[in-house]
Amino acid sequence: MAKSPISSSSGKLKKRVKTAQGRSISSVRWLQRQLNDPYVAQAKKDGYRSRAAYKLIELDDKFKWLKPGKTVLDLGAAPGGWTQVAVSRVRSEPENPKVIGIDLLSMDPLAGALLLKLDFMSSVAMAEIRDHIKNGVDIVLSDMAPNTTGHASTDHLRIMAILEAAYPFACEVLKPGGVFVAKVFQGGTENELLAMMKKDFTTVKHAKPKASRADSSEVYVVASGFKGKR
Ligand SMILES: C[S@@+](CC[C@H](N)C(=O)[O-])C[C@H]1O[C@@H](n2cnc3c(N)ncnc32)[C@H](O)[C@@H]1O
Repeated sequence: MAKSPISSSSGKLKKRVKTAQGRSISSVRWLQRQLNDPYVAQAKKDGYRSRAAYKLIELDDKFKWLKPGKTVLDLGAAPGGWTQVAVSRVRSEPENPKVIGIDLLSMDPLAGALLLKLDFMSSVAMAEIRDHIKNGVDIVLSDMAPNTTGHASTDHLRIMAILEAAYPFACEVLKPGGVFVAKVFQGGTENELLAMMKKDFTTVKHAKPKASRADSSEVYVVASGFKGKR
């Protein structure tokens, strides 16, 4: 089972983008960051589709909910790093996939996962997901994030809209004892939603894995011990 291999990331940039000419400043910055990011290099070595895989590895090494046989709904799954980790840890088999990944973007097939190209915010998507998980799931993961605008309050509102849709859906499909993990930004989860989570789950925590960039305001809310539908 892969572990997060990197204890801390060096802040110093070493490699430079050789093809910077003609690129926008933001694209050069992005490339430079990718070139110097130890998680990007490690993901390539370990065969993960994204550096994000290490965020889930770290979260699950700490909380340990991805056990063999558990069923998982992975919202905002592309390109599939979290899905790969989930498939491996719950030991999902191709003939009986225990992991469903959905995203706006199409994903390359992954043995052990059912991957659906859907806009989660549409009622069609929710109906289609329901069709696939008639008996409920043990874990709902949401790494969904809207494209950021750089305008902090707009970005915050957008991710909150996603979370406000994902949360009731998770409560609808989770089995008692289930787990909900979702990306949030800035000061964590809004008070009202947090209060609701504390009623619906036995434990609610915020966690920022080391693989989450220090300059990103992203954190994860981790709610476990779902008490069942109210
Ligand atoms: C940070 S990426 C997820 C990375 C993924 N966890 C991994 O390990 O590779 C966020 C994803 O959320 C998806 N997303 C954003 N809004 C969505 C929506 N309304 N429905 C489905 N996916 C959405 C984006 O397309 C993007 O692929």
